[in-house]
Amino acid sequence: MTQVSATAPQPWWQNGIIYQIYPLTFADANGDGIGDLQGITQRLDYLNDGNPNSETALGIDAIWLSPINTSPMVDNGYDVSDYTDICPTFGTLEDFDELLAQAHHRGIKIILDLVVSHSSDQHPWFVESASNRDNPRADWYLWQDPMEGREYPNNWRSYFGGTGWTYSEAREQFYFHTFHANQPDFNWQNPEVRAAIDQVIRFWLDRGVDGFRLDASSAYSKDIYFRDNPMKYGASDPNDYHSYNHLYDKNLPENHRIIEEIRATLDEYDNRLLIGETFIDSSLYESIGFYGITNNELHLPFNFEFPFSPWYPGYLQRQVEKTERLTPPSAWPNYFLDNHDIPRHLSRWIECSLCVDSEAIAKAAAALLLTVRGTPILYYGQELGMVDHTEIPPQKLQDRAVIKVDAGEDAPLPRDGARTPMQWDGSPQAGFSFGQDVEPWLPVHPNYPELNVKAALTDEQSIFNFYRQLIQVRRQSPALRWGKWRPLIHYPHEHLVYLREAEDEMVLVAINFNYELPLTLDVPVRRENWQVLLSTCHATGKVIDLAEALQSFEVSILRQI
Ligand code: NOJ
Repeated sequence: MTQVSATAPQPWWQNGIIYQIYPLTFADANGDGIGDLQGITQRLDYLNDGNPNSETALGIDAIWLSPINTSPMVDNGYDVSDYTDICPTFGTLEDFDELLAQAHHRGIKIILDLVVSHSSDQHPWFVESASNRDNPRADWYLWQDPMEGREYPNNWRSYFGGTGWTYSEAREQFYFHTFHANQPDFNWQNPEVRAAIDQVIRFWLDRGVDGFRLDASSAYSKDIYFRDNPMKYGASDPNDYHSYNHLYDKNLPENHRIIEEIRATLDEYDNRLLIGETFIDSSLYESIGFYGITNNELHLPFNFEFPFSPWYPGYLQRQVEKTERLTPPSAWPNYFLDNHDIPRHLSRWIECSLCVDSEAIAKAAAALLLTVRGTPILYYGQELGMVDHTEIPPQKLQDRAVIKVDAGEDAPLPRDGARTPMQWDGSPQAGFSFGQDVEPWLPVHPNYPELNVKAALTDEQSIFNFYRQLIQVRRQSPALRWGKWRPLIHYPHEHLVYLREAEDEMVLVAINFNYELPLTLDVPVRRENWQVLLSTCHATGKVIDLAEALQSFEVSILRQI
């Protein structure tokens, strides 16, 4: 298996742990029920207080902020109407500078979501482009004439359901949108568009941000002839986005040139990180191409393998093996379990596992995520064991882009369940508005009186404390940070056991997925003298023998001594 040298020096983003914040629901400082930048700043000590051995801080290294730019919020910020300002909902540029300064002071990097596959239809660029056919920005978006005998210019669908084309009366033409009709796609063929977005990137880099997460970054390029996408073999529903091979509306070869250009701009600055969402109805094989031929595109193309896996050891192991095999030499893998678009992993996995002990699953999943080779990306609240809110009353749902689209049965389900307010304490509204009892933007999950940061901090066995210790163990272990990954069993049914090996350290990770039975480990390594780095069953520091059975749902991370 090709792997990078186990002693390679690493840039910060290979060593570090990234934490995604959904700003609308993380912390509300101004008491309007909606999260804001000052709220995040006030909560930074919870994420990292600058003390590597902190008893109260999680210990993450970077925050990825879902969009904070000015937006009419049709897609909750993923529809930008001003790329160089902060949405008043979240605060001001001064608030952002303060957040950045306070974060940097604690050693936390800030990654912004850059949503430039499309803008909002309220962005002045689109307003001008849509006003007539010969304005200076007439060609900044994807415009097509109606075609004789066809309802729409071609068969391209919107990912949110329905056709991807919307008619503009003023131009008597259609424009294309991969997502909602209020999110028109840019024409990236146009050098003026590229130059304008380059200016946006430089604006934020000059301000000191540490990198970007590129939204929908495999959908920048489109076929210049606007050819129909062929239907997939066997697909029968022409309305369904997933019925098509998206040969002509995403992932075109030119897309790589665009990302190379963005990366070249980043490389003019020190230590910046480029992450990309290169996955829309595609596979790891396609995303892998976005590292670039000479690792000159994305540092981290999101790896969606865990989110689409069942809670089954053989399956999860296969995803790691696949990632290990496909990641090019000198490139670096990444893993995540949750984000703002999918149900939280405990909600997904509790359904398909035979175990109903969500705490046990949470710890096992945390151990997996933080001990495979690659950068882990956490989603806010995951460290507490937050689960989806499945009973939000329909009138309180906020995922308007998905709900309002007239797409019939193809429409995806609203994503609100995984976006509910961070659960800070047991006070009304889970302390979301710092003690003020105002109704939050989305309802708080009803389990907040028991499941919250304050309670987790005082419970030694909490999921939070497990994450915190895991992060500290990882930070102190070269093997866990950059060592080779080697599985010790193949096609496992009940448990995962693998090694992480660096020059002077060997760490063994054992996770028993069986919730009833202890297991005897039978693996080809020396049995004696393994020191417990972290375990759900053994005291830290204890030296054990691998012949000791793995208890049901045990997680043990052991160093050979
Ligand atoms: C992907 C984002 O993650 C999602 O939340 C958004 O709706 C679409 N891109 C459109 O920007």
